[in-house]
Amino acid sequence: MHKDVKNILISEQEIIDKAKELGAEITEHYKGGKAPILVALLKGSVPFLAELIKHIDLDIEYDFMDVSSYEGTESKRDIRIIKDLDRSITDEKILLVEDIVDTGHTLNAILKLLKNKGAGDCKVVSLLDKPSRREVEIEADFTGFVIPNEFVIGFGLDFNEKYRNLPYVGILKDEFYQ
Ligand code: IMP
Repeated sequence: MHKDVKNILISEQEIIDKAKELGAEITEHYKGGKAPILVALLKGSVPFLAELIKHIDLDIEYDFMDVSSYEGTESKRDIRIIKDLDRSITDEKILLVEDIVDTGHTLNAILKLLKNKGAGDCKVVSLLDKPSRREVEIEADFTGFVIPNEFVIGFGLDFNEKYRNLPYVGILKDEFYQ
């Protein structure tokens, strides 16, 4: 275990098993219709995307977006696109791939943005969910693990851009962010 980690919350094997389950659920949901384009948010969702797509038995495509959030008008949080999608998504089915839904602001803003781009049906798959921190009433359609209100790192999740490469999800020692 990394020396900055207090304890491992979700092991690598548990993540792989969950990705298999979610992949099967997603396959079942979309089978027989048009396959979705997976839109992954950089950088946190990359390891989850890589694991998940191995278990989706559909002719999917995937693309990436990078956004940063800032305090917008009326103290609502807005997002700025840093890297946009490479292709048009008009009338496409979108499956947004997230690392974690925390306050819900990011997810809310991205879904609006995808709709503004003309996307058809938009669904969300998130590896983690921290419902106790929610400020916007929003849920992923497919959720991996519901976790307590702790700051987690690993499997894509960072603290100051570090720890994304840990193969598990762990709780960062308090001394690093307090
Ligand atoms: P939200 O807009 O508050 O839902 O935030 C979502 C984003 O905040 C995620 O995509 C993560 O990048 C980041 N985030 C939220 N909670 C954590 C955490 O516990 N560890 C690392 N990043 C987090």
